[in-house]
Amino acid sequence: MNLDLNSSRRQFLVGAGLLTASALLPNPPALAQTSTIRIGLMLPYTGTYAQLGTAITNGFKLAVAERGGKLAGRELEYFSVDDESEPAKAPENANRLVQRDKVDVLVGTVHSGVQMGMVKVAKESNTLMIIPNAGLDAATGALCAPNIFRTSFSNWQPSYPMGKVLADRGMNNILTLAWKYGAGQEAVAGFNEGFIKAGGKSVRGLWIPFPNVEFQALLTEIASIKPDAVFVFFAGAGAAKFIKDYNAAGLRRQIPLFGSGFLTDGVLDAVDKAAEGLETTLHYADGLNTKRDREFRAAYSKAYKSEPDVYAVQGYDAGLLLNIGLDAVKGDVTKKKEMIAAMEKAKIDSPRGPWTMSKAHNPIQDIYLRRVVGRENKMVSVAHKALADPARGCKM
Ligand code: BEZ
Repeated sequence: MNLDLNSSRRQFLVGAGLLTASALLPNPPALAQTSTIRIGLMLPYTGTYAQLGTAITNGFKLAVAERGGKLAGRELEYFSVDDESEPAKAPENANRLVQRDKVDVLVGTVHSGVQMGMVKVAKESNTLMIIPNAGLDAATGALCAPNIFRTSFSNWQPSYPMGKVLADRGMNNILTLAWKYGAGQEAVAGFNEGFIKAGGKSVRGLWIPFPNVEFQALLTEIASIKPDAVFVFFAGAGAAKFIKDYNAAGLRRQIPLFGSGFLTDGVLDAVDKAAEGLETTLHYADGLNTKRDREFRAAYSKAYKSEPDVYAVQGYDAGLLLNIGLDAVKGDVTKKKEMIAAMEKAKIDSPRGPWTMSKAHNPIQDIYLRRVVGRENKMVSVAHKALADPARGCKM
């Protein structure tokens, strides 16, 4: 039917009952194509991990901005919740985004304990979820699910290679120290596994509750034990405080300090020279010197007037992954199966280096050994090429 009718003729046909008013409207595109895509950002914007949540948000929005503010031609609408790194509030916060705000995709979070609550809600509601930081091993392990993807790491992943680095240096008696919650416990377990497998001998663990930063008693204990080296898991503002305290106690030159790279990422401005020389392992580093990374860093610092860190990269890659899923279904989020299939096959051209998705939906990626030089976590070497998480217990 030709709808190119002038208005008096249209009025006549409607009046004569030859056309209904609705027939005069152009064919409406499917609703899924016209409405916005609703993104639930559940991240910490206050507390010790606040800076991490902001960097992830910035990275995600940069990936969207680079595509003209749309993904697969569709506008995004954001619904944000400050999860405060508070596990007890996680189910309520995630449910609010899913039930009340009716988000199409959940993006979050940073803290492994909060992630546990989000995993439960995402599984129950079958909401597509992209994890842009929290390393909770089970999210892509025993609790893995088709609708859960991660663009960051498992807690095992960046710590495991550091075990071999220290064993190869003949360091035998290692003391570990971490926040006593999922991430700290899994990071230490990953380190221990790598250390013992590479021939290391003795590991002793000290713990402090999250997000406690009263380190004095522990530093006194470390000084009296005199291990060959200390391996730690801390991140965000707590990591900055630990580095400063370790240095002020005079331990940095006496007992070498190592960690997964969260110890020194995003904190070097805050600690000044106290981190100089610290070595860590992580899936991102300064000085990668690839065209991809240089372009990303230039775009990020132009947009946000600050240098990107690993958290910004993980957020950015969450945007890239979602874009791949949405492109495959031309923006129709209701085609979840097709979206998931495309995301499973994704090859992410990331600033950290290219990576692919494991069967359990976790990045298979290079882990770098880095050393702090001035305000940079300089790449020293690749500590483990294309490392995949063991995904223990995942049945997918
Ligand atoms: C976690 O809780 O999984 C986590 C938090 C900050 C940095 C790395 C891991």
